[in-house]
Amino acid sequence: MNKRKTILDIQKMKHDGEKISVLTAYDYPFAKLLDAAGIDILLVGDTVGVVVNGHDTTLPVTLEEMIYHTRAVVRGASSALVVADLPFLSYQVDLRDARLNAGRLVKEGGAQAVKLEGGVHVAGTIQAIVDMDVPVVGHIGLTPQSIHRMGGYRVQGRREEQARQLLADARAVEKAGAFALVLEGIPAPLASEITASLTIPTIGIGAGLDCDGQVLVLHDILGLCDQFSPKFVKHYADVSTIVTAAATDYIDDVKSGRFPGPEHSFK
Ligand code: KIV
Repeated sequence: MNKRKTILDIQKMKHDGEKISVLTAYDYPFAKLLDAAGIDILLVGDTVGVVVNGHDTTLPVTLEEMIYHTRAVVRGASSALVVADLPFLSYQVDLRDARLNAGRLVKEGGAQAVKLEGGVHVAGTIQAIVDMDVPVVGHIGLTPQSIHRMGGYRVQGRREEQARQLLADARAVEKAGAFALVLEGIPAPLASEITASLTIPTIGIGAGLDCDGQVLVLHDILGLCDQFSPKFVKHYADVSTIVTAAATDYIDDVKSGRFPGPEHSFK
């Protein structure tokens, strides 16, 4: 069994100039495959609500659901660092909730770190969680839990004042003690500037080439999403077509009596 990566290994990768690979995972079989392929970090993202559970946004996802999916991913992964998302309303109301819920993702889910969205306004929350020795990943830019404020999934930081705010957010997240920062949906030059100004690694999604690592949603790269696919997604496989073909063949076999055969039957 490989030794599991730690937050120190991840931070060293920035300093060594080695890019950090991150994918989302929500269940045991995919976690096992991605771990064996050598992924550095598995993110149990609250995108589970959209790509697995069929919601329109990440907002309905509950802490109990995140614990359930995190447990499955942790059972499948022996090398990757497992980071679990704190879902909407599990950390915004008060620090006690935030600490308790972050702790539950570690204690009951088995995650090695948690991720939460926001910048300057959640710095105190990040610090409170880090103070109880739970490592935190920040997440700024296009933050899906703020969809109603943003008025949709829009690139953030195009205007000068927005860009300045994002730089301030990134610095606040680092100062609060986060060990890494996701930059989502921001112009590449701004992501590059933020990455150069931080000592902690940045993980980009729709944030250009210069981040210290990249994250994508597993179902997007496998072609398992029937919804709109953003410009920053690269498709590595068409699993929908494979699954449809397998299911169609099975149905034909059952209807025609070709399955089961004698080799699938007990004597
Ligand atoms: O929930 C998620 O999958 C995420 C990634 C898109 C960064 O936060």
